[in-house]
Amino acid sequence: MSDKNINVASTGNTVGKVTSAGGPGFGNKRSEGLSGKILLKVSDLKVSYGGIEAVRGISFDVPEGEIVTLIGANGAGKSSTLRSIVGLEKPASGSITFNGMELTSMGTEQIVKNGITLVPEGRRVFVNLSVYENLRMGAYLRNDDLAKDLDWVYSLFPRLKERHWQAAGTLSGGEQQMLAIARALMSRPQMIMMDEPSLGLAPIIVQEVFDIIREINHQGMTILLVEQNANMALKAADKGYVMETGRITLSGTGKDLAENQEVKEAYLGKSRK
Ligand SMILES: Nc1ncnc2c1ncn2[C@@H]1O[C@H](COP(=O)(O)OP(=O)(O)O)[C@@H](O)[C@H]1O
Ligand SMILES: [Mg+2]
Repeated sequence: MSDKNINVASTGNTVGKVTSAGGPGFGNKRSEGLSGKILLKVSDLKVSYGGIEAVRGISFDVPEGEIVTLIGANGAGKSSTLRSIVGLEKPASGSITFNGMELTSMGTEQIVKNGITLVPEGRRVFVNLSVYENLRMGAYLRNDDLAKDLDWVYSLFPRLKERHWQAAGTLSGGEQQMLAIARALMSRPQMIMMDEPSLGLAPIIVQEVFDIIREINHQGMTILLVEQNANMALKAADKGYVMETGRITLSGTGKDLAENQEVKEAYLGKSRK
Protein backbone atom coordinates (compact mmCIF):
# COMPACT_ATOMS: atom_id res chain seq x y z
CA MET A 1 0.00 0.00 0.00
CA SER A 2 1.57 3.26 -1.06
CA ASP A 3 -0.66 5.67 0.86
CA LYS A 4 1.38 6.53 3.90
CA ASN A 5 -1.49 7.10 6.29
CA ILE A 6 -3.24 3.83 5.63
CA ASN A 7 -2.26 0.93 7.80
CA VAL A 8 -2.55 -2.52 6.40
CA ALA A 9 -4.13 -4.75 9.01
CA SER A 10 -2.77 -2.76 11.90
CA THR A 11 -4.38 -0.89 14.75
CA GLY A 12 -2.72 2.51 14.61
CA ASN A 13 -4.38 4.97 16.96
CA THR A 14 -5.50 8.43 16.07
CA VAL A 15 -5.42 11.26 18.55
CA GLY A 16 -8.78 11.63 20.24
CA LYS A 17 -10.60 14.74 19.21
CA VAL A 18 -12.20 17.01 21.74
CA THR A 19 -15.94 17.18 21.41
CA SER A 20 -18.39 19.17 23.43
CA ALA A 21 -19.34 17.42 26.64
CA GLY A 22 -22.76 16.63 27.81
CA GLY A 23 -26.07 15.89 26.18
CA PRO A 24 -28.62 16.03 28.98
CA GLY A 25 -29.11 12.29 28.79
CA PHE A 26 -25.52 11.42 29.46
CA GLY A 27 -25.35 12.40 33.11
CA ASN A 28 -21.96 12.56 34.73
CA LYS A 29 -20.25 10.13 32.42
CA ARG A 30 -19.57 12.87 29.91
CA SER A 31 -17.53 14.96 32.30
CA GLU A 32 -14.69 12.45 32.42
CA GLY A 33 -13.17 14.17 29.43
CA LEU A 34 -12.56 12.88 25.96
CA SER A 35 -8.86 12.50 26.22
CA GLY A 36 -8.02 10.03 23.50
CA LYS A 37 -8.43 7.21 25.99
CA ILE A 38 -9.14 3.85 24.37
CA LEU A 39 -12.65 2.92 25.46
CA LEU A 40 -13.02 -0.38 23.59
CA LYS A 41 -10.12 -2.61 22.72
CA VAL A 42 -10.60 -5.73 20.63
CA SER A 43 -7.57 -8.03 20.39
CA ASP A 44 -7.20 -11.06 18.13
CA LEU A 45 -10.94 -11.76 18.23
CA LYS A 46 -12.14 -14.95 16.62
CA VAL A 47 -15.78 -15.96 16.19
CA SER A 48 -16.84 -19.30 14.71
CA TYR A 49 -20.15 -20.94 13.89
CA GLY A 50 -19.44 -24.64 13.94
CA GLY A 51 -16.75 -25.03 11.31
CA ILE A 52 -17.26 -21.57 9.82
CA GLU A 53 -14.70 -19.01 10.95
CA ALA A 54 -16.66 -15.77 10.61
CA VAL A 55 -14.09 -13.57 12.39
CA ARG A 56 -10.48 -14.69 12.03
CA GLY A 57 -8.42 -12.79 14.57
CA ILE A 58 -9.16 -9.08 14.33
CA SER A 59 -7.83 -6.24 16.47
CA PHE A 60 -9.07 -2.67 16.65
CA ASP A 61 -9.58 0.19 19.07
CA VAL A 62 -12.36 2.65 19.69
CA PRO A 63 -11.12 5.83 21.39
CA GLU A 64 -13.52 7.66 23.68
CA GLY A 65 -15.61 10.30 21.92
CA GLU A 66 -14.87 9.14 18.39
CA ILE A 67 -16.83 7.57 15.56
CA VAL A 68 -15.10 4.40 14.40
CA THR A 69 -16.46 2.46 11.45
CA LEU A 70 -16.06 -1.12 10.28
CA ILE A 71 -16.87 -1.34 6.60
CA GLY A 72 -16.99 -4.40 4.42
CA ALA A 73 -19.11 -6.46 2.09
CA ASN A 74 -21.92 -8.78 3.09
CA GLY A 75 -20.53 -11.77 5.00
CA ALA A 76 -17.28 -10.07 6.02
CA GLY A 77 -17.96 -10.69 9.72
CA LYS A 78 -19.10 -7.24 10.80
CA SER A 79 -22.28 -8.28 12.62
CA SER A 80 -20.52 -11.22 14.26
CA THR A 81 -17.98 -8.74 15.62
CA LEU A 82 -20.62 -6.45 17.10
CA ARG A 83 -22.66 -9.34 18.45
CA SER A 84 -19.63 -10.80 20.20
CA ILE A 85 -18.78 -7.44 21.78
CA VAL A 86 -22.20 -7.32 23.40
CA GLY A 87 -22.11 -10.99 24.40
CA LEU A 88 -24.64 -12.34 21.89
CA GLU A 89 -21.99 -14.60 20.35
CA LYS A 90 -19.29 -16.22 22.43
CA PRO A 91 -15.85 -15.56 20.91
CA ALA A 92 -13.76 -18.62 20.08
CA SER A 93 -10.74 -16.68 21.35
CA GLY A 94 -9.38 -13.21 21.85
CA SER A 95 -10.00 -10.37 24.22
CA ILE A 96 -12.51 -7.53 24.32
CA THR A 97 -11.98 -4.85 26.94
CA PHE A 98 -14.18 -1.86 27.68
CA ASN A 99 -12.88 0.73 30.15
CA GLY A 100 -10.21 -1.87 30.90
CA MET A 101 -12.78 -4.53 31.85
CA GLU A 102 -12.74 -7.88 30.08
CA LEU A 103 -16.14 -8.47 28.48
CA THR A 104 -15.71 -11.95 27.04
CA SER A 105 -16.72 -13.66 30.27
CA MET A 106 -19.74 -11.41 30.85
CA GLY A 107 -23.35 -11.91 29.78
CA THR A 108 -25.19 -9.41 27.60
CA GLU A 109 -27.10 -7.88 30.50
CA GLN A 110 -23.92 -7.14 32.40
CA ILE A 111 -22.27 -5.70 29.28
CA VAL A 112 -25.23 -3.37 28.69
CA LYS A 113 -25.10 -2.33 32.35
CA ASN A 114 -21.44 -1.50 31.82
CA GLY A 115 -22.37 0.99 29.13
CA ILE A 116 -22.47 -0.63 25.69
CA THR A 117 -25.57 -0.90 23.57
CA LEU A 118 -26.23 -2.35 20.12
CA VAL A 119 -28.69 -1.08 17.54
CA PRO A 120 -29.13 -4.37 15.71
CA GLU A 121 -29.15 -4.97 11.99
CA GLY A 122 -32.70 -4.68 10.68
CA ARG A 123 -33.82 -2.36 13.54
CA ARG A 124 -35.87 -5.00 15.45
CA VAL A 125 -38.28 -2.62 17.09
CA PHE A 126 -41.26 -4.14 18.89
CA VAL A 127 -43.88 -3.58 16.20
CA ASN A 128 -46.91 -4.08 18.42
CA LEU A 129 -45.68 -1.73 21.12
CA SER A 130 -45.99 2.04 20.97
CA VAL A 131 -43.02 4.32 20.42
CA TYR A 132 -43.07 5.15 24.12
CA GLU A 133 -43.20 1.49 25.16
CA ASN A 134 -40.26 0.72 22.86
CA LEU A 135 -38.28 3.48 24.51
CA ARG A 136 -39.15 2.13 27.95
CA MET A 137 -37.88 -1.29 26.84
CA GLY A 138 -34.55 0.32 26.02
CA ALA A 139 -34.28 1.39 29.62
CA TYR A 140 -35.38 -1.90 31.16
CA LEU A 141 -32.12 -2.43 33.05
CA ARG A 142 -32.51 0.90 34.80
CA ASN A 143 -34.77 1.73 37.67
CA ASP A 144 -34.10 5.45 37.94
CA ASP A 145 -36.16 8.29 36.52
CA LEU A 146 -36.50 8.08 32.75
CA ALA A 147 -38.19 11.44 32.19
CA LYS A 148 -34.98 13.35 31.49
CA ASP A 149 -33.75 10.80 28.98
CA LEU A 150 -37.13 10.62 27.33
CA ASP A 151 -37.09 14.41 26.91
CA TRP A 152 -33.59 14.16 25.52
CA VAL A 153 -34.35 11.48 22.91
CA TYR A 154 -37.54 13.27 21.93
CA SER A 155 -35.52 16.44 21.40
CA LEU A 156 -33.19 14.47 19.10
CA PHE A 157 -36.12 12.82 17.33
CA PRO A 158 -39.11 15.20 17.31
CA ARG A 159 -40.98 12.95 14.86
CA LEU A 160 -40.95 10.18 17.45
CA LYS A 161 -42.43 12.53 20.02
CA GLU A 162 -45.32 13.26 17.66
CA ARG A 163 -45.84 9.50 17.41
CA HIS A 164 -45.51 8.77 21.13
CA TRP A 165 -48.51 6.41 21.31
CA GLN A 166 -48.35 5.09 17.77
CA ALA A 167 -47.51 1.41 17.27
CA ALA A 168 -43.93 1.07 16.07
CA GLY A 169 -45.04 -1.23 13.25
CA THR A 170 -46.93 1.63 11.64
CA LEU A 171 -43.82 3.84 11.39
CA SER A 172 -41.84 4.24 8.17
CA GLY A 173 -38.51 2.42 7.81
CA GLY A 174 -36.59 5.61 8.58
CA GLU A 175 -38.70 6.31 11.65
CA GLN A 176 -38.19 2.74 12.86
CA GLN A 177 -34.44 3.19 12.49
CA MET A 178 -34.64 6.43 14.49
CA LEU A 179 -36.68 4.56 17.12
CA ALA A 180 -34.10 1.77 17.28
CA ILE A 181 -31.36 4.35 17.88
CA ALA A 182 -33.49 6.24 20.42
CA ARG A 183 -34.31 2.99 22.23
CA ALA A 184 -30.61 2.17 22.47
CA LEU A 185 -29.88 5.63 23.87
CA MET A 186 -32.42 5.04 26.64
CA SER A 187 -30.04 2.57 28.27
CA ARG A 188 -27.78 5.62 28.75
CA PRO A 189 -24.78 3.97 27.11
CA GLN A 190 -21.21 5.16 27.09
CA MET A 191 -20.76 3.64 23.63
CA ILE A 192 -23.40 2.87 21.03
CA MET A 193 -22.83 0.32 18.29
CA MET A 194 -24.96 0.47 15.15
CA ASP A 195 -25.23 -2.37 12.67
CA GLU A 196 -25.96 -1.02 9.18
CA PRO A 197 -28.35 1.75 10.21
CA SER A 198 -28.68 2.95 6.61
CA LEU A 199 -29.68 -0.43 5.17
CA GLY A 200 -32.79 -0.30 3.01
CA LEU A 201 -33.45 3.41 3.51
CA ALA A 202 -33.93 6.05 0.81
CA PRO A 203 -30.93 8.39 0.32
CA ILE A 204 -32.61 11.37 1.95
CA ILE A 205 -33.43 9.28 5.04
CA VAL A 206 -29.88 7.88 5.09
CA GLN A 207 -28.70 11.49 5.27
CA GLU A 208 -30.99 12.09 8.26
CA VAL A 209 -29.68 8.98 10.01
CA PHE A 210 -26.09 10.15 9.52
CA ASP A 211 -26.99 13.66 10.73
CA ILE A 212 -28.27 12.06 13.93
CA ILE A 213 -25.13 9.92 14.26
CA ARG A 214 -23.01 13.07 13.99
CA GLU A 215 -25.21 14.95 16.45
CA ILE A 216 -25.08 12.20 19.06
CA ASN A 217 -21.31 12.04 18.65
CA HIS A 218 -21.07 15.83 18.89
CA GLN A 219 -22.83 15.57 22.25
CA GLY A 220 -20.03 13.27 23.40
CA MET A 221 -21.16 9.74 22.53
CA THR A 222 -18.62 7.17 21.37
CA ILE A 223 -19.90 5.31 18.31
CA LEU A 224 -18.89 2.06 16.63
CA LEU A 225 -20.61 2.02 13.28
CA VAL A 226 -20.87 -0.94 10.94
CA GLU A 227 -21.83 -0.12 7.37
CA GLN A 228 -21.86 -1.38 3.83
CA ASN A 229 -22.48 2.24 2.85
CA ALA A 230 -18.75 3.01 2.95
CA ASN A 231 -19.15 6.42 1.41
CA MET A 232 -21.35 7.79 4.19
CA ALA A 233 -19.59 5.89 6.96
CA LEU A 234 -16.08 7.05 6.05
CA LYS A 235 -17.26 10.65 5.75
CA ALA A 236 -18.65 10.53 9.28
CA ALA A 237 -15.90 8.47 10.92
CA ASP A 238 -12.73 9.58 12.65
CA LYS A 239 -11.24 6.19 11.96
CA GLY A 240 -12.17 3.21 9.82
CA TYR A 241 -11.32 -0.44 9.36
CA VAL A 242 -11.98 -2.50 6.27
CA MET A 243 -13.10 -6.10 6.90
CA GLU A 244 -12.82 -8.84 4.30
CA THR A 245 -13.78 -12.45 5.00
CA GLY A 246 -13.18 -12.23 8.73
CA ARG A 247 -10.02 -10.16 8.64
CA ILE A 248 -9.13 -6.48 8.87
CA THR A 249 -7.22 -5.66 5.72
CA LEU A 250 -6.91 -1.88 5.95
CA SER A 251 -7.23 0.82 8.55
CA GLY A 252 -6.79 4.56 8.63
CA THR A 253 -8.63 7.80 9.26
CA GLY A 254 -12.02 8.02 7.59
CA LYS A 255 -10.65 10.64 5.24
CA ASP A 256 -7.55 8.66 4.24
CA LEU A 257 -9.56 5.51 3.63
CA ALA A 258 -12.11 7.41 1.54
CA GLU A 259 -9.25 8.66 -0.65
CA ASN A 260 -7.53 5.29 -0.88
CA GLN A 261 -7.55 3.83 -4.38
CA GLU A 262 -8.22 0.27 -3.28
CA VAL A 263 -11.12 1.33 -1.06
CA LYS A 264 -12.53 3.51 -3.82
CA GLU A 265 -12.52 0.66 -6.29
CA ALA A 266 -13.86 -1.98 -3.95
CA TYR A 267 -16.35 -0.03 -1.83
CA LEU A 268 -17.03 3.43 -3.19
CA GLY A 269 -17.68 2.72 -6.86
CA LYS A 270 -15.03 3.61 -9.42
CA SER A 271 -16.80 6.74 -10.61
CA ARG A 272 -16.77 8.40 -7.22
CA LYS A 273 -14.08 10.89 -6.28
N1 LIG B 1 -25.74 -17.77 13.16
C1 LIG B 1 -24.89 -18.12 12.19
N2 LIG B 1 -24.67 -19.43 11.89
C2 LIG B 1 -23.81 -19.81 10.92
N3 LIG B 1 -23.09 -18.93 10.18
C3 LIG B 1 -23.27 -17.63 10.42
C4 LIG B 1 -24.17 -17.14 11.43
N4 LIG B 1 -24.13 -15.80 11.43
C5 LIG B 1 -23.25 -15.46 10.47
N5 LIG B 1 -22.72 -16.55 9.87
C6 LIG B 1 -21.72 -16.55 8.80
O1 LIG B 1 -20.59 -15.84 9.27
C7 LIG B 1 -20.06 -15.03 8.25
C8 LIG B 1 -20.06 -13.58 8.69
O2 LIG B 1 -21.39 -13.14 8.85
P1 LIG B 1 -21.76 -11.72 9.45
O3 LIG B 1 -21.01 -11.50 10.69
O4 LIG B 1 -23.24 -11.64 9.52
O5 LIG B 1 -21.19 -10.75 8.31
P2 LIG B 1 -21.62 -9.27 7.90
O6 LIG B 1 -22.36 -8.67 9.04
O7 LIG B 1 -20.33 -8.58 7.59
O8 LIG B 1 -22.49 -9.40 6.69
C9 LIG B 1 -20.90 -15.29 7.01
O9 LIG B 1 -20.25 -16.28 6.26
C10 LIG B 1 -22.19 -15.80 7.58
O10 LIG B 1 -22.84 -16.67 6.67
MG1 LIG C 1 -24.26 -7.85 9.08
